[in-house]
Amino acid sequence: MGKSNKKKKKRDRQAFLANKHDLYQKAVQEPEADTEFMEKVFRDKFKHTPLVMREDFCGTGFLSATWVAEKKERRAIGYDLDPDTVNWGVENNLSDLDSDQRSRIELRIADVLDAPKEPVDIVCAMNFSWWIFKKRNQLLKYFRSVRSSLLDEGLFVLDMYGGSEAYEEMEEEREKEDFSYIWDQEKVCGITDEVLCHISFHFPDGSKMKKAFTYDWRRYGMRETQEILIDAGFSSVEVYWEGTDEDGEGDGEFTLQTEAENSEAWIAYLVAIP
Ligand SMILES: C[S@@+](CC[C@H](N)C(=O)[O-])C[C@H]1O[C@@H](n2cnc3c(N)ncnc32)[C@H](O)[C@@H]1O
Repeated sequence: MGKSNKKKKKRDRQAFLANKHDLYQKAVQEPEADTEFMEKVFRDKFKHTPLVMREDFCGTGFLSATWVAEKKERRAIGYDLDPDTVNWGVENNLSDLDSDQRSRIELRIADVLDAPKEPVDIVCAMNFSWWIFKKRNQLLKYFRSVRSSLLDEGLFVLDMYGGSEAYEEMEEEREKEDFSYIWDQEKVCGITDEVLCHISFHFPDGSKMKKAFTYDWRRYGMRETQEILIDAGFSSVEVYWEGTDEDGEGDGEFTLQTEAENSEAWIAYLVAIP
Protein backbone atom coordinates (compact mmCIF):
# COMPACT_ATOMS: atom_id res chain seq x y z
CA MET A 1 0.00 0.00 0.00
CA GLY A 2 1.38 3.41 -1.00
CA LYS A 3 1.98 6.21 1.51
CA SER A 4 -0.81 8.36 0.10
CA ASN A 5 -3.33 5.52 0.49
CA LYS A 6 -2.35 5.15 4.13
CA LYS A 7 -2.83 8.87 4.65
CA LYS A 8 -6.23 8.78 3.04
CA LYS A 9 -7.25 5.90 5.29
CA LYS A 10 -6.25 7.80 8.39
CA ARG A 11 -8.20 10.83 7.18
CA ASP A 12 -11.33 8.73 6.81
CA ARG A 13 -11.22 7.27 10.27
CA GLN A 14 -13.72 8.40 12.89
CA ALA A 15 -11.13 9.61 15.39
CA PHE A 16 -9.66 11.91 12.77
CA LEU A 17 -13.03 13.30 11.70
CA ALA A 18 -14.35 13.92 15.21
CA ASN A 19 -13.80 17.08 17.25
CA LYS A 20 -12.60 16.67 20.83
CA HIS A 21 -14.70 19.52 22.25
CA ASP A 22 -17.84 18.14 20.67
CA LEU A 23 -17.09 14.69 22.12
CA TYR A 24 -16.33 16.19 25.55
CA GLN A 25 -19.65 18.03 25.63
CA LYS A 26 -21.55 14.88 24.66
CA ALA A 27 -19.68 12.66 27.10
CA VAL A 28 -19.17 14.81 30.15
CA GLN A 29 -21.56 17.72 30.31
CA GLU A 30 -25.25 17.92 31.12
CA PRO A 31 -25.74 21.69 31.37
CA GLU A 32 -29.54 21.53 31.77
CA ALA A 33 -29.08 19.51 34.96
CA ASP A 34 -26.65 22.14 36.33
CA THR A 35 -28.89 25.11 35.48
CA GLU A 36 -31.95 23.41 36.96
CA PHE A 37 -30.06 22.61 40.16
CA MET A 38 -28.63 26.12 40.55
CA GLU A 39 -31.91 27.88 39.86
CA LYS A 40 -33.82 25.65 42.29
CA VAL A 41 -31.37 26.01 45.17
CA PHE A 42 -31.16 29.77 44.61
CA ARG A 43 -34.95 30.23 44.51
CA ASP A 44 -35.50 28.07 47.58
CA LYS A 45 -33.04 30.20 49.50
CA PHE A 46 -33.68 33.73 48.33
CA LYS A 47 -37.24 33.55 46.90
CA HIS A 48 -36.26 35.31 43.71
CA THR A 49 -34.78 34.29 40.40
CA PRO A 50 -31.03 34.28 39.72
CA LEU A 51 -30.23 36.17 36.54
CA VAL A 52 -26.49 36.68 36.26
CA MET A 53 -24.20 33.67 36.33
CA ARG A 54 -20.42 33.68 36.12
CA GLU A 55 -19.06 30.37 34.85
CA ASP A 56 -15.46 29.91 35.93
CA PHE A 57 -13.31 27.47 33.91
CA CYS A 58 -16.05 27.72 31.28
CA GLY A 59 -14.25 25.80 28.53
CA THR A 60 -16.50 26.00 25.48
CA GLY A 61 -19.16 27.93 27.40
CA PHE A 62 -21.73 25.18 26.90
CA LEU A 63 -23.25 25.80 30.34
CA SER A 64 -23.30 29.60 29.87
CA ALA A 65 -24.94 29.22 26.46
CA THR A 66 -27.58 26.94 27.96
CA TRP A 67 -28.17 29.41 30.82
CA VAL A 68 -28.96 32.33 28.50
CA ALA A 69 -30.92 30.19 26.02
CA GLU A 70 -33.26 28.86 28.70
CA LYS A 71 -34.60 32.19 30.01
CA LYS A 72 -34.93 35.64 28.57
CA GLU A 73 -33.57 37.82 31.37
CA ARG A 74 -30.52 35.70 32.15
CA ARG A 75 -26.93 36.79 31.51
CA ALA A 76 -23.71 34.76 31.61
CA ILE A 77 -20.01 35.60 31.73
CA GLY A 78 -17.54 32.77 31.27
CA TYR A 79 -13.83 32.72 32.08
CA ASP A 80 -11.31 30.30 30.65
CA LEU A 81 -7.60 30.53 29.98
CA ASP A 82 -7.51 28.47 26.83
CA PRO A 83 -8.14 30.45 23.61
CA ASP A 84 -8.66 27.39 21.36
CA THR A 85 -11.34 25.99 23.63
CA VAL A 86 -13.13 29.32 24.07
CA ASN A 87 -12.96 30.11 20.35
CA TRP A 88 -14.41 26.70 19.50
CA GLY A 89 -17.22 27.48 21.93
CA VAL A 90 -17.88 30.85 20.32
CA GLU A 91 -18.00 29.28 16.86
CA ASN A 92 -20.08 26.27 17.83
CA ASN A 93 -22.16 27.04 20.94
CA LEU A 94 -22.69 30.79 20.70
CA SER A 95 -23.42 30.57 16.99
CA ASP A 96 -26.51 28.47 17.84
CA LEU A 97 -27.97 31.37 19.85
CA ASP A 98 -30.22 34.07 18.42
CA SER A 99 -29.04 37.68 18.53
CA ASP A 100 -30.85 38.48 21.80
CA GLN A 101 -29.37 35.43 23.55
CA ARG A 102 -25.98 36.21 22.04
CA SER A 103 -26.12 39.75 23.49
CA ARG A 104 -26.52 38.29 27.00
CA ILE A 105 -23.40 36.08 27.03
CA GLU A 106 -19.73 36.84 27.02
CA LEU A 107 -16.82 34.39 27.14
CA ARG A 108 -13.58 35.96 28.29
CA ILE A 109 -10.16 34.43 27.73
CA ALA A 110 -8.64 35.09 31.14
CA ASP A 111 -7.51 33.56 34.40
CA VAL A 112 -10.36 33.15 36.88
CA LEU A 113 -8.17 34.89 39.43
CA ASP A 114 -8.27 38.02 37.26
CA ALA A 115 -12.04 38.12 36.97
CA PRO A 116 -13.26 41.59 37.95
CA LYS A 117 -15.44 41.84 41.03
CA GLU A 118 -18.63 42.41 39.09
CA PRO A 119 -21.37 41.34 41.50
CA VAL A 120 -23.30 38.34 40.21
CA ASP A 121 -26.03 36.03 41.53
CA ILE A 122 -24.16 32.79 40.96
CA VAL A 123 -20.53 31.82 40.38
CA CYS A 124 -20.01 28.20 39.40
CA ALA A 125 -16.94 26.03 38.88
CA MET A 126 -17.94 22.69 37.38
CA ASN A 127 -16.32 19.42 36.56
CA PHE A 128 -13.76 19.66 39.36
CA SER A 129 -11.87 22.40 37.52
CA TRP A 130 -10.95 24.15 40.77
CA TRP A 131 -8.63 21.21 41.58
CA ILE A 132 -6.03 22.95 39.38
CA PHE A 133 -5.06 24.94 42.49
CA LYS A 134 -2.51 22.63 44.04
CA LYS A 135 -1.75 24.71 47.10
CA ARG A 136 -4.31 25.39 49.79
CA ASN A 137 -3.32 29.08 49.76
CA GLN A 138 -4.02 29.36 46.03
CA LEU A 139 -7.41 27.74 46.47
CA LEU A 140 -8.16 30.05 49.41
CA LYS A 141 -7.24 33.06 47.26
CA TYR A 142 -9.56 31.86 44.50
CA PHE A 143 -12.44 31.19 46.92
CA ARG A 144 -11.92 34.66 48.44
CA SER A 145 -12.08 36.28 45.00
CA VAL A 146 -15.32 34.41 44.27
CA ARG A 147 -16.74 35.48 47.62
CA SER A 148 -16.07 39.14 46.80
CA SER A 149 -17.78 38.80 43.39
CA LEU A 150 -21.10 37.63 44.80
CA LEU A 151 -24.14 39.68 45.69
CA ASP A 152 -25.24 39.31 49.34
CA GLU A 153 -27.94 37.02 48.04
CA GLY A 154 -25.65 34.96 45.88
CA LEU A 155 -24.31 31.42 45.62
CA PHE A 156 -21.05 29.75 44.72
CA VAL A 157 -21.71 26.30 43.26
CA LEU A 158 -18.91 23.82 42.69
CA ASP A 159 -18.76 20.09 42.27
CA MET A 160 -16.44 17.34 43.40
CA TYR A 161 -16.04 13.60 43.20
CA GLY A 162 -14.70 11.04 45.65
CA GLY A 163 -15.13 7.51 46.94
CA SER A 164 -12.69 4.60 47.06
CA GLU A 165 -12.21 4.53 43.26
CA ALA A 166 -11.05 8.13 43.34
CA TYR A 167 -7.95 6.87 45.12
CA GLU A 168 -7.15 4.17 42.57
CA GLU A 169 -5.15 4.21 39.40
CA MET A 170 -7.91 2.98 37.12
CA GLU A 171 -9.61 3.29 33.75
CA GLU A 172 -13.33 3.49 33.24
CA GLU A 173 -15.00 3.12 29.85
CA ARG A 174 -18.50 4.33 29.10
CA GLU A 175 -20.41 3.61 25.92
CA LYS A 176 -21.94 6.64 24.28
CA GLU A 177 -24.12 6.69 21.19
CA ASP A 178 -21.36 6.60 18.60
CA PHE A 179 -18.13 6.44 20.57
CA SER A 180 -16.76 5.33 23.95
CA TYR A 181 -15.48 7.69 26.56
CA ILE A 182 -12.48 6.60 28.62
CA TRP A 183 -11.65 8.18 31.97
CA ASP A 184 -8.08 7.27 32.84
CA GLN A 185 -6.88 8.07 36.33
CA GLU A 186 -3.26 7.42 35.50
CA LYS A 187 -1.52 8.54 38.68
CA VAL A 188 -2.79 8.99 42.19
CA CYS A 189 -0.30 10.08 44.83
CA GLY A 190 -0.93 9.08 48.43
CA ILE A 191 1.35 11.79 49.77
CA THR A 192 0.60 14.89 47.70
CA ASP A 193 -3.05 14.07 46.85
CA GLU A 194 -2.18 14.85 43.24
CA VAL A 195 -4.09 13.05 40.48
CA LEU A 196 -3.17 12.90 36.81
CA CYS A 197 -6.14 12.04 34.61
CA HIS A 198 -6.87 11.81 30.90
CA ILE A 199 -9.93 11.57 28.73
CA SER A 200 -9.67 9.47 25.56
CA PHE A 201 -12.27 8.53 22.96
CA HIS A 202 -12.54 5.22 21.06
CA PHE A 203 -14.63 4.68 17.94
CA PRO A 204 -16.49 1.75 16.37
CA ASP A 205 -14.04 1.63 13.40
CA GLY A 206 -11.22 0.91 15.88
CA SER A 207 -9.66 4.37 15.71
CA LYS A 208 -8.79 6.21 18.91
CA MET A 209 -8.35 9.79 20.06
CA LYS A 210 -5.91 9.20 22.89
CA LYS A 211 -5.48 11.65 25.77
CA ALA A 212 -7.68 14.30 24.16
CA PHE A 213 -7.72 16.05 27.55
CA THR A 214 -5.29 15.85 30.47
CA TYR A 215 -5.90 17.13 33.99
CA ASP A 216 -3.11 17.61 36.49
CA TRP A 217 -4.98 18.17 39.74
CA ARG A 218 -4.83 18.06 43.48
CA ARG A 219 -7.76 16.31 45.05
CA TYR A 220 -9.25 18.10 48.05
CA GLY A 221 -11.31 16.32 50.68
CA MET A 222 -14.96 17.16 51.20
CA ARG A 223 -14.56 18.40 54.78
CA GLU A 224 -11.35 20.22 53.95
CA THR A 225 -13.04 22.06 51.04
CA GLN A 226 -15.90 23.21 53.26
CA GLU A 227 -13.40 24.56 55.79
CA ILE A 228 -11.44 26.44 53.12
CA LEU A 229 -14.68 28.00 51.85
CA ILE A 230 -15.50 29.17 55.38
CA ASP A 231 -11.94 30.50 55.76
CA ALA A 232 -12.50 32.44 52.54
CA GLY A 233 -15.43 34.30 54.11
CA PHE A 234 -18.49 32.23 53.23
CA SER A 235 -20.90 31.95 56.13
CA SER A 236 -22.04 28.41 55.41
CA VAL A 237 -21.58 25.56 52.97
CA GLU A 238 -24.15 22.98 52.01
CA VAL A 239 -23.55 19.62 50.39
CA TYR A 240 -26.00 18.20 47.87
CA TRP A 241 -25.34 14.48 47.55
CA GLU A 242 -26.43 12.36 44.61
CA GLY A 243 -28.94 9.56 45.21
CA THR A 244 -28.58 6.09 43.68
CA ASP A 245 -30.89 3.90 41.63
CA GLU A 246 -31.60 0.21 42.28
CA ASP A 247 -28.29 -0.76 40.60
CA GLY A 248 -26.36 1.56 42.89
CA GLU A 249 -25.65 3.99 40.04
CA GLY A 250 -26.02 7.76 40.51
CA ASP A 251 -29.59 8.82 39.71
CA GLY A 252 -28.94 12.50 38.98
CA GLU A 253 -31.01 13.64 42.00
CA PHE A 254 -29.02 15.82 44.38
CA THR A 255 -30.42 16.45 47.86
CA LEU A 256 -29.14 18.40 50.84
CA GLN A 257 -27.36 16.01 53.22
CA THR A 258 -25.14 16.27 56.27
CA GLU A 259 -24.05 12.63 56.41
CA ALA A 260 -23.42 10.10 53.67
CA GLU A 261 -22.08 6.60 53.37
CA ASN A 262 -18.86 6.48 51.40
CA SER A 263 -19.09 4.48 48.20
CA GLU A 264 -16.86 3.45 45.30
CA ALA A 265 -17.64 6.65 43.46
CA TRP A 266 -19.73 9.66 44.39
CA ILE A 267 -20.37 13.12 43.00
CA ALA A 268 -21.70 16.08 44.96
CA TYR A 269 -22.40 19.77 44.56
CA LEU A 270 -21.14 22.15 47.22
CA VAL A 271 -23.11 25.36 47.62
CA ALA A 272 -21.35 28.15 49.49
CA ILE A 273 -23.43 31.02 50.87
CA PRO A 274 -21.96 34.50 51.54
C1 LIG B 1 -12.21 20.35 33.36
S1 LIG B 1 -12.29 21.66 32.17
C2 LIG B 1 -13.90 22.22 32.56
C3 LIG B 1 -14.71 22.68 31.39
C4 LIG B 1 -16.18 22.99 31.74
N1 LIG B 1 -16.28 24.02 32.74
C5 LIG B 1 -16.93 21.80 32.22
O1 LIG B 1 -17.69 21.90 33.18
O2 LIG B 1 -16.82 20.72 31.67
C6 LIG B 1 -11.20 22.83 32.91
C7 LIG B 1 -11.04 24.13 32.16
O3 LIG B 1 -10.38 25.06 33.02
C8 LIG B 1 -9.55 25.91 32.26
N2 LIG B 1 -8.59 26.55 33.19
C9 LIG B 1 -7.57 25.95 33.86
N3 LIG B 1 -6.99 26.85 34.69
C10 LIG B 1 -7.67 28.02 34.56
C11 LIG B 1 -7.56 29.31 35.17
N4 LIG B 1 -6.63 29.57 36.10
N5 LIG B 1 -8.41 30.27 34.78
C12 LIG B 1 -9.36 30.03 33.84
N6 LIG B 1 -9.51 28.82 33.24
C13 LIG B 1 -8.69 27.83 33.59
C14 LIG B 1 -8.97 25.00 31.19
O4 LIG B 1 -8.55 25.74 30.06
C15 LIG B 1 -10.17 24.08 30.90
O5 LIG B 1 -10.91 24.55 29.80
